[in-house]
Amino acid sequence: MAEKTLQTLFHETLRDIYYAERKILKSLPKMARAAQSPDLKAAFEKHREQTEGQIERLQQVFEIIGKPARGKTCDAIEGILAEGDEIAEEYKDTAALDAGLLAAAQAVEHYEITRYGTLKRWAEVMGLKDAVKLLDETLQEESQTDEDLTAIADAVINAEALQPAA
Ligand SMILES: [Fe+2]
Ligand SMILES: [Fe+2]
Repeated sequence: MAEKTLQTLFHETLRDIYYAERKILKSLPKMARAAQSPDLKAAFEKHREQTEGQIERLQQVFEIIGKPARGKTCDAIEGILAEGDEIAEEYKDTAALDAGLLAAAQAVEHYEITRYGTLKRWAEVMGLKDAVKLLDETLQEESQTDEDLTAIADAVINAEALQPAA
């Protein structure tokens, strides 16, 4: 039986987040369409563009470890995105829609942050300096996105959700 090592975990986790990012790329335009607030729409659109770059960075990391860029079904992101779809449906035309969508998006960001945080640490241990840099760039973008979403929530969305729809 082949030995499983940190390299195995790194490769499998890379495949997991690669699958997740491509799902997220498809989901963000839907979320932007569903959102009512122009700020929230803009945040989702901006992050869709960033996600394209993140997918390219992952392809570079696959290249660094000499493996083909191939995803592996990530049940976690499927579940998180399905919950987001559920909110979009169940809260349609209500005052709480944007607050719900924003929270769903933050669940996605937090999932990404945990994956990239781990991958970056493992890349450090494995001595993959270029991969560390690429993974860190994406980690910073995900963290910034999470913070931007919190700012939008604080500025208006949570307060608006307290009121019944006009
Ligand atoms: Fe991402
Ligand atoms: Fe993200």
